[in-house]
Amino acid sequence: MVKKKVFVCRRIPAAALQRLNSEVDMTVWPAELPPSRAELLQHVKGCDGILSLLSDRMDAEVFQQAGPQLRVVSNYAVGFNNIDVREAHSRGIRVGNTPGVLTEATADIAAGLILATARRFSESIDQVRNLEWKTWDPLGLLGLDLKGATLGIVGMGRIGMALAKRMHFGWDMNVIYTARTEKPDAESLLNAKRVDLATLLANADIVSLHADYNPSTHHLINSSTLAMMKPNAILINTARGGLIDQDALYNALKDGTIWGAGLDVTDPEPLPDDSQLRRLPRCLILPHIGSATIETRQAMADIAVDNLLAGLHGRPLPHEVRP
Ligand code: DGY
Repeated sequence: MVKKKVFVCRRIPAAALQRLNSEVDMTVWPAELPPSRAELLQHVKGCDGILSLLSDRMDAEVFQQAGPQLRVVSNYAVGFNNIDVREAHSRGIRVGNTPGVLTEATADIAAGLILATARRFSESIDQVRNLEWKTWDPLGLLGLDLKGATLGIVGMGRIGMALAKRMHFGWDMNVIYTARTEKPDAESLLNAKRVDLATLLANADIVSLHADYNPSTHHLINSSTLAMMKPNAILINTARGGLIDQDALYNALKDGTIWGAGLDVTDPEPLPDDSQLRRLPRCLILPHIGSATIETRQAMADIAVDNLLAGLHGRPLPHEVRP
């Protein structure tokens, strides 16, 4: 029997790739950097399935180029803002993602960013590396206390809840959150209160973003919403860079509208060399490592391959995204 043709947009953990390779005719993009648009369009031609990454835009042009036999696009991420899901469905192409398995790893990074931003890890490390550490300074590198602070979770889904648990039980934080619906678990377990965004921004010492990124949440954090935050507030983003208007954030940090920011995601990724944001001392930026643990990336690979194989064989995807 002729094997199904699959393009894998980057190398992912080996065991899952080997499993895929035993069942399909697979091409893996071998380079460290993603394929260019032209390379992507060339490689998807004639494919029945695509294993995509968050850096690969999957839209009508890609689907058209692949051809009518394309059955499934399996994203190696829980987020799927890189995929035109509606367009895929209108063409009978199934879309998969990798929810659940990266919740704890991503919540760890959000927790780490809170601590590192409040206690100025980045400036402190720079001081040591740059041989600027002269003495124990009573007034040097003063940060913010975290115990008993109010944590505002914007978008109380799995990752928001995992972060809220860490901060509530570990640091005695009060939790407030926004969500489309009330979250009984958060309310009973953490005594968390659902509020509107304006109330959250006005009351939270730490605002952590966990909302889906789509046209309605583009630049949710902008000059107006930043102005609603407390001057000693910290903004954390482990979701998607487009949730924040970065120029507005730069101004807010420079002018002292808020205290600091810890970002694991930016827009674009990576930030351009001349981005002013990366030069601000109170803006700690990580290169999108929320899910970057050995175990988590393996688990994501397993799900992505399971989704892909299910789609290729006409079975329901274990984790399907619908419009
Ligand atoms: C995701 O899965 O959406 C993360 O951003 C990367 O792991």
